[in-house]
Amino acid sequence: MEIVASGIRPTGNLHLGNYFGAVRSFLQMQYEYNCFFFIADWHSLTTHPNPVNMRQSVNTILAEYLACGLDPEKATVYVQSDVREVAELYLYLNMNAYLGELERVTTFKEKVRSQPDNVNAGLLTYPTLMASDIIIHRAVKVPVGKDQEQNMEMARKCARRFNNIYGVEFFPEPASFHLSEKAVKVPGLDGSGKMGKSEGNAIYLADDEKTIHKKVMRAVTDSGPAEPNSEKPEPIQNLFKIMEIVSDTDTCNFFNDKYNACEIRYGDMKKQLAADINTFCAPIRARINEIAADETYLEKVARMGAEKASASASKTLNEVRKIIGFRSITNY
Ligand code: ADP
Ligand code: TRP
Repeated sequence: MEIVASGIRPTGNLHLGNYFGAVRSFLQMQYEYNCFFFIADWHSLTTHPNPVNMRQSVNTILAEYLACGLDPEKATVYVQSDVREVAELYLYLNMNAYLGELERVTTFKEKVRSQPDNVNAGLLTYPTLMASDIIIHRAVKVPVGKDQEQNMEMARKCARRFNNIYGVEFFPEPASFHLSEKAVKVPGLDGSGKMGKSEGNAIYLADDEKTIHKKVMRAVTDSGPAEPNSEKPEPIQNLFKIMEIVSDTDTCNFFNDKYNACEIRYGDMKKQLAADINTFCAPIRARINEIAADETYLEKVARMGAEKASASASKTLNEVRKIIGFRSITNY
């Protein structure tokens, strides 16, 4: 069975972008592939070196993963830092990664701009840690949103380069996976291109009805089209895009027709959108609260995941050690 791996950093709650960009694929893939889904807590150190309450943040995302429908009996759901083999492979991959190519990664350049006082080596080598997460299970498919393309290119480079340097065909090249032929990008409601934690414009799965309403009503709009069938400016396109994602086709068509006839009332559209987002989030929200309160269950899931992920990782690492020329240290 083909192997799948993907992760999300525990730097906040899951939002609609995470859900429609990544988690929704996880849910579908868990029944068809051998899946490894993890919480990338080591990665979060690249931006938050001294986390306030890492265990709590990890548990929150774990509860949210499960509330969305990840099945720990089907997929291996684990915490990255529970699998130390990932760090050893990261070390080897870093020996074959070059400063120039790492410096050219857009997300690195963005972070240099946004956190100039903390341009640490972990931030620079973020893509090699991500590559390690993926190839430690020799995964071939990686469900991620559109924003991860460059990191995925680096992961393929790492796999290819390892094979070339050591003259083996050991690591397959991982490909990004999207449910539809086009990667989903959930836009922000503040007129910006992307919904994200760092963008500060996210609607979270755990948000209550009032919060959702408030966030949607604040969405950036304009004074409406002046002529029938006008092209939509970006903030308006974004509003429609989110509606397409959460509302049914009739609702989308209704407001689209209103827009084209210059009769759009954004207030009505936003109210409808807020209601539809709430309908989508309400059952997930209820499950989040239920699961988050059950620490024993969360601990059990994390332990089970750690065990399964470590078994897969140590098998790969044992081979890697042999290929490079180190002694095997355990009897895997
Ligand atoms: P954020 O960008 O909010 O910090 P992460 O970087 O932790 O979120 O993203 C975790 C996963 O969710 C990745 O696969 C990413 O591609 C996806 N993702 C995040 N935001 C969006 C979005 N607005 N649209 C589509 N996918 C997204
Ligand atoms: N970089 C990803 C993000 O910001 C998170 C991540 C870490 C990841 N390791 C991964 C995604 C491995 C897929 C595979 O969203």
